[in-house]
Amino acid sequence: MSEYFTSHDDILENKLGITDPQVLKQIEDEIVPVRTAEIYSSFPVKAFDFDMLRKIHFIMFSDLYQMAGQVRNVDMVRGDNRIPFCFTQNIDQEQRRIFGILNQENDFVGLDREAFVKKIAWLSSELNALHPFRDGNGRAIRAFLVLLAAHAGFELDYSKVDKDELIEADVRAFLGDVSSLEEVYSQSILIQKQ
Ligand SMILES: Nc1ncnc2c1ncn2[C@@H]1O[C@H](COP(=O)(O)OP(=O)(O)O)[C@@H](O)[C@H]1O
Ligand SMILES: [Mg+2]
Repeated sequence: MSEYFTSHDDILENKLGITDPQVLKQIEDEIVPVRTAEIYSSFPVKAFDFDMLRKIHFIMFSDLYQMAGQVRNVDMVRGDNRIPFCFTQNIDQEQRRIFGILNQENDFVGLDREAFVKKIAWLSSELNALHPFRDGNGRAIRAFLVLLAAHAGFELDYSKVDKDELIEADVRAFLGDVSSLEEVYSQSILIQKQ
């Protein structure tokens, strides 16, 4: 059992001292969307880097969790996967590689829609494999990508895609096939801004 867990089953240690997972989920589902809306309306983007992703995670989750904005210190495996997400000892090196590519490619500004779809699918699969936080990776990464897309001139609207389809595509990408994720981003999510 990691230090992130209370003695109760599968509930993240939280600032409110909640021990009932359903109550915690209910409160999380109320607070996080409010913080996410704040991020969309007023996040002060300086650079599309790892620090920005951590800040987004902090804003989303700091009402609830001490671990908000902090890189996880436990290795994690998900679902039926036989390989874990990035080992904690490699997270810093990996984030430098991923954001290095993003920044070197001018944060994907100036691409046409088709090219951008491929790049954002790649980035989202890399960030998911990095999985830098103990929880909340999906939500923080999606908010980061919405802001990145806006900066590059595209509107990214995840409400247009089925949640299960997106997760299935994430899983496939994690196993090495990014095509479903490209499909998801291409058909359901991106609209060229005026
Ligand atoms: N079996 C899996 N293999 C790879 N990625 C997965 C798997 N299951 C879920 N995911 C990814 O992990 C994300 C959920 O991570 P998590 O840290 O729990 O974020 P959140 O709490 O915001 O949902 C999903 O959005 C999906 O992208
Ligand atoms: Mg989660």
